[in-house]
This record gives sequence, C-alpha cells and structure tokens, in this order.
Amino acid sequence: MRVLGISGSPRRGGNTDILVNTALEVLAGEGLETEFLSLADRPVKPCVACRGCFASDAIRCVQEDPAFEGMLDKFAQSDGLVIGSPVYFGSATPQIMALLDRVGYVAREHPQLLRRKVGAAIVVARRAGQITMSIQIDGNTTVRDLVGRFPQTRKVFEQYGIDYCCGGGKCLAEAAHESQAALPDLARDIETALAATSAKTATAEKDWYAAPLHELIDHILQVHHAYMHEALPRLGGLVGKVLHAHGAHHGDMLRQVQVLYGSLDTELTNHLRKEEEVLFPYIVAAEAHRQGGPEGPAACFGSVGDPIRQMEREHESAGEVLAQIRKATGGYALPDDACRTFRALYEELEQMEKDLHQHIHLENNILFPKANAAEASK
Ligand SMILES: Cc1cc2nc3c(=O)[nH]c(=O)nc-3n(C[C@H](O)[C@H](O)[C@H](O)COP(=O)(O)O)c2cc1C
Repeated sequence: MRVLGISGSPRRGGNTDILVNTALEVLAGEGLETEFLSLADRPVKPCVACRGCFASDAIRCVQEDPAFEGMLDKFAQSDGLVIGSPVYFGSATPQIMALLDRVGYVAREHPQLLRRKVGAAIVVARRAGQITMSIQIDGNTTVRDLVGRFPQTRKVFEQYGIDYCCGGGKCLAEAAHESQAALPDLARDIETALAATSAKTATAEKDWYAAPLHELIDHILQVHHAYMHEALPRLGGLVGKVLHAHGAHHGDMLRQVQVLYGSLDTELTNHLRKEEEVLFPYIVAAEAHRQGGPEGPAACFGSVGDPIRQMEREHESAGEVLAQIRKATGGYALPDDACRTFRALYEELEQMEKDLHQHIHLENNILFPKANAAEASK
C-alpha cells in the first residue's frame, strides 16, 4: 500500500509540510510506503479547460508543463492520498487547486485514475475558512463527522433544519441542498460557531468519541433515558389536559397531536427497554471482555450490527413522528387563546424533540459505529 502526501503550501517547512509529514510518519509506522511532495517549488499551471484529456485515450493532460510531469503516475500508483493546504482567504491555495483541478478533470474522463483510493484532507488555518476549504478538498465531510467532533455545531444544523442524528451520514453539500440552504452560508455559520467557542465551552462538552463505551452508555442512560422515562407519561397527561380545555377551538389539531404522541410514547417506551435490557448490557459486557474480563452471556443475535440496525430504524421512526407533531402544530405556533398549559405543552414537546436529536446523535453517530468497529476488529 502506498500513500502520497501533498502539501499545497508555498512555504517550505511551514505548518502544512509539518502536518502532512506527521500524517505520513504515522502511516509509515503502520508499514505503508509513503511519499511526500511539496508544491512550493513546483509551479503547476492551472487547468485551461482545453479538454485535451477528454480527446485522449491515454490518461494524460496535454498541457505543456514540466511541473506537472509525472504527477498523474504518482496519483495512479497511490492507494491513499493525504492532501494538505493552508487556508488563504477562505480557500485552498492556488497551488493545490491547480493540481487538483487538472488531476480531477483528467479523472472525469478516466475515472479509474482515482477510483477506490482513500483520501484525507489536512486543513491548516489561523482563524477561519477551514470548513469551506475542507469541502473544496474533501467533498465527503459529513454532518455526522462535524457534530461528532465539534458538538457546538449542533445548533447551526438545528437552525438550518438539518437532521444531524438519523440523517447525519449526508455530506454537507447534500444536507445544504436538501434544506435549501446555500452551502457557503452554512460553511460560514459552522466556522462562526467553531470560532465563537471559548476554551471553557470546548472543554465543557465531553469528547464522547474518545470515551469508553460503558461511560457513554452510562451518560445516555442517566441523561437521555432518565429524561424520557420521566417526560413521556407526563407530556401524555399534558396533551390530554390541553385537548380537554381547548378541544372546542383546536380539537382537530390537538386530537391529531394526541394520536401521534400516543404512538411515539409506545414506540419509545419499547425502544428504551430493548436498549436497556439487551443491547447496552451486551455492548458493555463485550467491551469488558475485550479488556480481559470474563466472557458475557451468549447473545440472542448473530452480530451486534443486527440489533443496531433495528435501533436505527426505530430512531428514524421516532424522529419522523416528532416531525409530524411539529408540522401538525404549525411549528409549535401558539394560537392567540393559548393558556399557560398550552404554552408549557409546546415548550416541552420542542424540548423533547431537541433531547431526542442529541440522544440519537450519541447513539447513531458515536456509540453504534464504535460498537460495530470493536466487534469487527476482534
Ligand atoms: C495570503 C494569505 C491568506 C491567508 N488567509 C487566511 C484565512 O482566510 N484564514 C485563516 O485562518 N488563515 C489565513 N492565513 C493564514 C495561514 O492559513 C496560516 O498562517 C497557515 O498556518 C500557513 O500555512 P504554512 O505554514 O503551511 O504556510 C492566510 C495566510 C496568507 C499568507
């Protein structure tokens, strides 16, 4: 296996060179063959859209350019690519984009040039522009990646109405398109959220990626399951109360909310029980066993992926019911004659939706992938 690391910084020995080389050293330590390439002294010319590569059967760029010589071979012979660049005015450097544009255009006609290669972007910035640039280099950055690594971005996705829990596997461009947002606006707001995070807030949010699975499960149980066990029956009572008091004027809408809420309550109560009695104890026991503890009781399923897939389906379904409740209430728009209980109901339903999103995010985006990966590495 061969990995090509490219630095698009015009500064030899600068931060980008250091970081790309650091990544390559780790890969070399794993036994991979690596090569470092700096564009500092290689003024690769930009693509001129001559479409000569489209006309050629061979994988080549027809532009005369000594700095580009051998580049396509280096890409073709590599299984992995680490592409690094400093951010210059919110963008990757012209040096790296000239190279990527030309290789990318050749690959449109000859997709085998880049097919099945693994890639990673290294984005070097002083202050801002890193998200926009990471999208430029690696269009696959997902909502899940960002929320998982930077929980403070959650509120941006909420503002844009982007589902970061069940739909977290979408790349940013796709998520922006679906929520009819402009990608540059979304990228800018994510960057603002990242920049605004003080050191205090950054440390207040625990890095659940790095935590052991039993700690994460403990947190989910104590915070999110405990909340649901308390709130589910209480809000059911509140829905009934508001329907009784306001049925005369808002009966159709409130009856619809009551039916939807009833199905949510049943679904979630069963779902929590399955996680608490079957899946979570299994994951905790498997983790303890991997660390030298005794083998846990035999599972009633083949692979942990089976119950996980079922839990993900149930998450999706609960999220959909809450979205339907939101729609039925016109986005929790209170009628003029709403009393305090009516107001409390809407506030509590919104709170439940928020809590469920965070809860599902921790499971779908962190706990489940880690449990699957741990089983696969056995
Ligand atoms: C022309 C220019 C534009 C820059 N624009 C940005 C920017 O938009 N955002 C930012 O965070 N840093 C910006 N920087 C700072 C660089 O990204 C930062 O210093 C980086 O570490 C340089 O990488 P290097 O050491 O590999 O050259 C800019 C630097 C230069 C020279």
